[in-house]
Amino acid sequence: MELFDSLRFKIVRRGIKIVFPEATDARILGAAARLKAEELVEPILLGSEEEITAAANARGITTSSFTIIDPNHYDKWDEMVAAFVERRNGKASKEQAESILKDVNYFGTMLTYMGIADGMVSGAIHSTGDTVRPALQIIKTKPGVSRTSGAMIMVRGRDQEKYVFSDCAINVNPNAQELAEIAVESAKTAELFDIDPKVALMSFSTKGSASASEVDKVVEATKIAKKLAPQYMIDGELQFDASYVPSVAQLKAPHSEVAGQATVFIFPELQSGNIGYKIAQRFGNFEAIGPILQGLNKPVSDLSRGANEEDVYKLAIITAAQTLLD
Ligand SMILES: CC(C)(COP(=O)(O)OP(=O)(O)OC[C@H]1O[C@@H](n2cnc3c(N)ncnc32)[C@H](O)[C@@H]1OP(=O)(O)O)[C@@H](O)C(=O)NCCC(=O)NCCS
Repeated sequence: MELFDSLRFKIVRRGIKIVFPEATDARILGAAARLKAEELVEPILLGSEEEITAAANARGITTSSFTIIDPNHYDKWDEMVAAFVERRNGKASKEQAESILKDVNYFGTMLTYMGIADGMVSGAIHSTGDTVRPALQIIKTKPGVSRTSGAMIMVRGRDQEKYVFSDCAINVNPNAQELAEIAVESAKTAELFDIDPKVALMSFSTKGSASASEVDKVVEATKIAKKLAPQYMIDGELQFDASYVPSVAQLKAPHSEVAGQATVFIFPELQSGNIGYKIAQRFGNFEAIGPILQGLNKPVSDLSRGANEEDVYKLAIITAAQTLLD
């Protein structure tokens, strides 16, 4: 089954509510209309009803079936302000909360935190930091996960060859514990996309072929990840060729159950992760889907500002599917 057919099948008619803070944007409105018509997602649009309706009508979309919440006239405003102050635990006064919650990304994130929405998709007109920061501060990471991270799903060809690359978006230089958690969360993300997770923690060294503190970090992270999630096949430290090419794996890591057949590739820090996925995308003709933020208590997804309507539609489907993860 094609990747998105499988995800659609998982979420259809479940009434999963996704909040879109940038609801007057034509790309968001177009995607929301499709998601609603196909019964994949119940969109919650943020903004003034008048402005959203005008923008929608200009695109030939009727808004009568959408839930619209106007942050300036929200009946649970006081409850939201109080919940924000409590969650920030001394880091914001009531007055500061009232000002911060005027920002649609904070408002949408609070709707998600309060359970009025199940997840959020934003970033079509906001930067990554502005989209993601409210989630880090309010929704926070799941127990046992200290950092959220950004995975890319790499897909190629008709037979939908699929891999997970991580962290490609968030943590500039994770330590061994953080890298181990990224590896485990990436294995879970792989399962969501029907990828059998075989997790390679990558380095410029394979099984002791080079020594450096950078390599030690990956060795340590591999040990921690195996302990954290013994149910998954995890191995390191492996070079990319040893992870991916069976004949190289035979030579460099003959006893590894991951080498030569890895499906989840964990990069040691953000520079290699970000560069790595772009090389696969541009040289290898992979479609790069993401970044998918993993490890949060509830899913929040960041669109690229260059996203088109199809990208919004797809990321909303992924976000809805993430609500089904533990
Ligand atoms: C994600 C990011 C925007 C957060 O930046 P920030 O707001 O400066 O982060 P801060 O350190 O001020 O932390 C803000 C809050 O988020 C939390 N936080 C920051 N990074 C986090 C992470 N990876 N996971 C979980 N929580 C995190 C902090 O603990 C803090 O919480 P608190 O306010 O409750 O104490 C930042 O990590 C970043 O810019 N990363 C690189 C992104 C990038 O440029 N990617 C390029 C490729 S797309």
